[in-house]
Amino acid sequence: MTIIALTLLVLLFISNKSPTTGKDVTQSSSAGSNYLIGVGRADCTGPAAEVPLMGYANPDQLAGGILSRLYSRAFIVAEPDDSKRVVFVSADIGMVSQRLRLEVMKKLKSKYGELYRQDNVILSGTHTHSGPAGYFQYTIFVISSKGLIRPSLNAVVNGIVESIDIAHQNMKRGRLFINKGLVENSQINRSPYSYLQNPASERSRYSSNTDKEMVLLKMVDVNGQELGLISWFAIHPVSMNNTNNLINSDNVGYASYLFEQEKNKGLLPGEGSFVAAFASSNLGDVSPNIKGPHCINTGESCDNPHSYCPVGGAKMCMAAGPGTDMFDSTKAIGKNLYLKAKDLYTLASQEVTGPLHSAHQWVNMSNVTVQLNATHSGKTCKPALGYSFAAGTIDGVGFFNFTQGK
Ligand SMILES: *[C@@H]1O[C@H](CO)[C@@H](O)[C@H](O)[C@H]1NC(C)=O
Ligand SMILES: *[C@@H]1O[C@H](CO)[C@@H](O)[C@H](O)[C@H]1NC(C)=O
Ligand SMILES: *[C@@H]1O[C@H](CO)[C@@H](O)[C@H](O)[C@H]1NC(C)=O
Ligand SMILES: *[C@@H]1O[C@H](CO)[C@@H](O)[C@H](O)[C@H]1NC(C)=O
Ligand SMILES: *[C@@H]1O[C@H](CO)[C@@H](O)[C@H](O)[C@H]1NC(C)=O
Repeated sequence: MTIIALTLLVLLFISNKSPTTGKDVTQSSSAGSNYLIGVGRADCTGPAAEVPLMGYANPDQLAGGILSRLYSRAFIVAEPDDSKRVVFVSADIGMVSQRLRLEVMKKLKSKYGELYRQDNVILSGTHTHSGPAGYFQYTIFVISSKGLIRPSLNAVVNGIVESIDIAHQNMKRGRLFINKGLVENSQINRSPYSYLQNPASERSRYSSNTDKEMVLLKMVDVNGQELGLISWFAIHPVSMNNTNNLINSDNVGYASYLFEQEKNKGLLPGEGSFVAAFASSNLGDVSPNIKGPHCINTGESCDNPHSYCPVGGAKMCMAAGPGTDMFDSTKAIGKNLYLKAKDLYTLASQEVTGPLHSAHQWVNMSNVTVQLNATHSGKTCKPALGYSFAAGTIDGVGFFNFTQGK
């Protein structure tokens, strides 16, 4: 049984009318400020030695020091009369486990009562593969992290809650602006042959086999003071490969670092009021390793349907790039993201003005009806690991000679 919780944030920014009441929304907000906005950032690094890293599912890839600290970045947006609020958190971690979410919600409830709830708190992980593991309750993750690691879990719970506390204390009248644009030369599809299995009618709707659009939300207060931003872009933070032992926030974390250092002038990383989150989106099969897959033993390309090398098979097929090593690649991709975000941020002029909504739903993923075609439907079953899981990807190979594209 797998139950998935979905929390959706909907900002209605085109229409000025509330869809439910038809009331003119702009009239009810004070001039020049459509929302109350708070931003906050707190450290969530966790144990820096001997614990497995979360992402490549390799119990022997252990933390052995810190390259960059990990942060939780929180944003709270409320209606001007504070009748509704929504919290969005992006943390430099692999992903948000159910265990982690439940512990965060429990702490929020004890501090704030019913203010922050299942339906208005959204927790998101950047998906860095270089943060401590051990904060999951599911067996498969408990195996690769060698158990539940309390110090890992506590660091992330406390970091997320602290970032929300800071944002909560900072709430002020402000405005939101949205902008979008394409990021080039930063990602490739890591399963391009599998992508071709999608119907031609669907593929023809898109100009490439990855989504290149960055969406950015800019936040300023009524006096024009810059508060922060959230950008969403589809990219795996796996510029650091599975030989890395240093805790770090990978390419998206480096983009946050560059943006925050620019706005929090003269301060150390992690200090200063400006908060820049580079949050995860539809990054499933999107790799930042844009030199593409090569056999690590012979150097030849393994960009073939099974990501297979003539000598050594799938285990030898790994992608890298664009830099000279993984550190250089992390910075190169991070810098691309930062530069695009800076453009979008600087030029953002479309104001978000509308009522705030959020919703939460539990979905029983063991019992969802799927329409196969006009006449036939099927039902999802109990969770199972598919063949493709064991095959891994060109960003981190799998096990036992399972291959992609089978
Ligand atoms: C995997 O396949 C490669 C290439 O055929 C072969 O050299 C290797 O021995 C295989 N490994 C295992 C564990 O079967
Ligand atoms: C990982 O990156 C390091 C440093 O850039 C490189 O030496 C190593 O070959 C890479 N390993 C794999 C498996 O790609
Ligand atoms: C599965 O979902 C259907 C509704 O789609 C419901 O009627 C049925 O009771 C559910 N079955 C189980 C075993 O939960
Ligand atoms: C979810 O659905 C499965 C199978 O349909 C059922 O066995 C299980 O009890 C359901 N779980 C909940 C929490 O409803
Ligand atoms: C619809 O799907 C079913 C089950 O996969 C299949 O047997 C049937 O031939 C399909 N019908 C059409 C018109 O494609």
